Amino acid sequence: MTHSKILCFAGSNRSASFNKSLAGAMAKQLSLLDCEVTLISLQDYPLPLFDQDEEAEKGIPENAIKLAKLLASQDGVFIASPEYNASISPLLKNTIDWISRLPNSDPHPFKNPVYAIGGASPGGLGGIRGLAHLRQVLVALGALVLPQQVSVGSAHSAFDDTGDLSDNRTAAFLGDAAASLLSHSKRF
Ligand SMILES: Cc1cc2nc3c(=O)[nH]c(=O)nc-3n(C[C@H](O)[C@H](O)[C@H](O)COP(=O)(O)O)c2cc1C
Repeated sequence: MTHSKILCFAGSNRSASFNKSLAGAMAKQLSLLDCEVTLISLQDYPLPLFDQDEEAEKGIPENAIKLAKLLASQDGVFIASPEYNASISPLLKNTIDWISRLPNSDPHPFKNPVYAIGGASPGGLGGIRGLAHLRQVLVALGALVLPQQVSVGSAHSAFDDTGDLSDNRTAAFLGDAAASLLSHSKRF
């Protein structure tokens, strides 16, 4: 049987991004399980701010097409999303919006892989309000988003030197989300 392919990325390009750390921690957790993990940075897929006139003139940017193909080729995807003003980051929304402009394909970037989501924030709520919005956006695009999610509050002190979550309870949420993502990606 082939290994499940799981992609992890963060909705932040900030050099010291806590969400990059969370995506990294999830990739590390998944790498201990029976799957093939890919960790990417959206920095490697720069996109202009979505503009329907620009889309009509120039078409969909190559990086959006590349990302869509990458997502469609996966069995599971984990997104670590920053929370900006109780919603998702402009980088993540812009990326999703561009990909959503591609014609329906089979496999489909949102309908093919199973999605799990998480968020990290220096605040106490761990970006949980933004995760509700991210879930809504992904579901609107046809994605199956698993109920298990991970919220990392006080993110500035949440990761140890090896990149793992130091709090056992939060680490257990990450473990549950990883296990669920893997089992569902195998099933679908
Ligand atoms: C415009 C803006 C709005 C923000 N709003 C929130 C918020 O609503 N809730 C929250 O927990 N953090 C908020 N933050 C703080 C971010 O969680 C923090 O900057 C975080 O480090 C961003 O994620 P990153 O570390 O992955 O880049 C906001 C930050 C910015 C720049």
